[in-house]
Amino acid sequence: MERLQKVLAHAGVASRRKCEQLIVEGHVTVDGQKVTELGFKVDPDSQAIAVDGKPVKQEKKVILLLNKPTAYVSTVSDPEGRRTVMSLLPTVAERLYPVGRLDYDTSGLLLFTNDGTLTERLLHPSRNIEKVYRVTVEGTVDKEARRRLAEGIELEDGMTAPAIVEVMKQGPESVVQIAIHEGRNRQVRRMFAALDLPVKRLKRIAFGPIALGHLKTGEWRTLDPAEWKALYRSVELSPPPYATPTFPNRKVERPARTSRSPKGKRSRR
Ligand code: URA
Repeated sequence: MERLQKVLAHAGVASRRKCEQLIVEGHVTVDGQKVTELGFKVDPDSQAIAVDGKPVKQEKKVILLLNKPTAYVSTVSDPEGRRTVMSLLPTVAERLYPVGRLDYDTSGLLLFTNDGTLTERLLHPSRNIEKVYRVTVEGTVDKEARRRLAEGIELEDGMTAPAIVEVMKQGPESVVQIAIHEGRNRQVRRMFAALDLPVKRLKRIAFGPIALGHLKTGEWRTLDPAEWKALYRSVELSPPPYATPTFPNRKVERPARTSRSPKGKRSRR
């Protein structure tokens, strides 16, 4: 549920201030009822909102995936003035927010969306969404360490849930792939620190049904329709129509209209 003026402003009706004015002046209806109260909360996905009788169309839902580099904060802004992940995204018309966070020193898969319900569900602890990390540690990950990671480790905020652990490389510097279902603060680093295995590099390579794949560090991509559906279904939401963001600065190449185009038929490109 969101405040009516925020929903109107996000849908591009007018600025937040102007939307407040429209509400107070009685131009706005929700499910056919006039609303003049500023704090009024609505569910933009299920309620019909109109201004002067004209339905307000909600922003289409979009999702982007970034391969976050280290040395970027995963927030929209940073009080300390550090570089944010937002600076790596293309200019899009929709208002995107990161789905959770990766530490400043962590790289890898980070999703962005304007779908608040999707974000909320993906991050809710009860959903147990699987996150897979590739962890490079100092030292060898012996049998006992693997057992403790798999069974759960006592941290200051309680035992960790069982994890799936796979050793990819063993040596003075070892590489482990670990799948966890929780999202506690600095969880993976703290799990390995508890085993006296300092983390040298940490990269998230999967989030729920979405894998990072071969995307280069610092690059972004949209999801494909199958990933889109899988992500929504992983949190028991019916997928909205598949969409990609609107890139206001991108020139779309369209075939020139010529007299040879068949009459009445639109180019599908
Ligand atoms: N665990 C961590 O320790 N750091 C992250 O960024 C993500 C998971």
